[in-house]
Amino acid sequence: MAAISEQPDPVIAEHHELKRTLGPVSLIMMGIGAIIGAGIFVIAGTAAAEHAGPAVMISFVIAGFGCLFAGLCYAEFASLIPESGSAYTYAYATMGRFMAWFIGWNMVLEYLVSSSTVAVGWSGYLVSFLQNLGYSFPAAYANAPVAGTGFHDLHLTGAIINLPAVLLIAFLTVFLVVGVSESARFNALMVMIKTGIVILVILFGLPHVHTANLTPFIPPNAGTFGKFGVTGILAASGLIFFAYIGFEAVSVAAQESRNPKRDLPIGILGSLAICTVLYMGMALVLTGITDWRTLDVPNPVSFALGKIPSLSWMVLPINVGAMVGLASVVFMGLYGQSRIFYCMARDGFLPPAFSAVHKRFRTPHRGTIIVGFFAALAAAILPLDILADLVSIGTLLAFVAVCGGILILRRTAPLAKRPFKTPFVWFVAPAGIATCGLMMFSLSDGTWVRLVLWTAIGIVIYFVYGIWHAAPSKWKVKNES
Ligand code: ALA
Repeated sequence: MAAISEQPDPVIAEHHELKRTLGPVSLIMMGIGAIIGAGIFVIAGTAAAEHAGPAVMISFVIAGFGCLFAGLCYAEFASLIPESGSAYTYAYATMGRFMAWFIGWNMVLEYLVSSSTVAVGWSGYLVSFLQNLGYSFPAAYANAPVAGTGFHDLHLTGAIINLPAVLLIAFLTVFLVVGVSESARFNALMVMIKTGIVILVILFGLPHVHTANLTPFIPPNAGTFGKFGVTGILAASGLIFFAYIGFEAVSVAAQESRNPKRDLPIGILGSLAICTVLYMGMALVLTGITDWRTLDVPNPVSFALGKIPSLSWMVLPINVGAMVGLASVVFMGLYGQSRIFYCMARDGFLPPAFSAVHKRFRTPHRGTIIVGFFAALAAAILPLDILADLVSIGTLLAFVAVCGGILILRRTAPLAKRPFKTPFVWFVAPAGIATCGLMMFSLSDGTWVRLVLWTAIGIVIYFVYGIWHAAPSKWKVKNES
């Protein structure tokens, strides 16, 4: 996710030197702010119920390692190319025009589609919250009209639209257009609310964990790939990976960090480590206090806690905390996408509408509205599992490219000044490619088909537009003489 800072907008004001104000604690907060969202509040339930059972904890560790390896490579790039645009910019500087487009196009999955996904998760918690208050939201207006992860089982559900998800995106898009930038203090508040709820769930839930619920820890494979057993753990890690997306926010903040060499790795590794521990605690509580087979619901955390009479008071705060936390992740996704499109339009890959800046608001208003429109459209009609899998596969692909790009640079520009050097790069980068690649392969056939379709659309756009307009990258990483 993109870094969000105080005014001036870090991307729009790219010609100005950004203030180096962020220290290690702010960077860790920024990472956690972008990380904790629908992954732990929604997808963890599905991953346990459908794929791994209590062993979803192992899936969290596998996904965490993939992110750790990729995160170390991100940190090196970020310190070498302190420019907005994240993996897209890194690819442009190292792998040329086509790869830059390819990665940038797939990052739409990471940002825009992830906003849609988290908005759908938010909708689930809103419905549960309204139920607490005694109101019932009509199901036909809070669910996706289509369902089914593969193409063979794609079907209509009878629902009409996921209206709360659409309204949330519309509301946040307006905020982004008028330039209400999320301040560091606001972000810190969000982080405290989200993290506070997670910690409360763990502390209050732990005494209610029963080993009977956790046995067998790895439920036997049900006969197909990804349905429990070892392959189930792997499949769950592909889903759970979604929960970690966002730590790149730290790498994007390279140019605003006081001491990037020391603080970027602290920010990346710190936020990842804290989230991994919190996630494992949550996974233990979720699968330990109730029958994990029942967790495939839109609001698994409040659902599981709500089953324990003495903890039913927590349902309301969990729903509120989850809604606040998820909304902040949607905001970050919409912000990041509009800024990445801004960079891509500025480089000529997209029409100038995406880089047009509003005179008064100083925001890329047209691009933001287009992003909001498509994010809302996807959230209106698609279910969370289809969306989340697409986000994961697109992001994993970007991570593989970043790990590969770092190795290319070590060969082509071995003497470039690297404020942060990925340690043991010849192990870390290939391990990142292997772990992220493995998680990609654990995702469903339908997801792969969608990735191929998505890429095909991107290639058409590239040959119709980008190839004729894109300028060479201004970022060239050179050896120090
Ligand atoms: N990691 C973010 C989430 O779980 C995208 O919502």
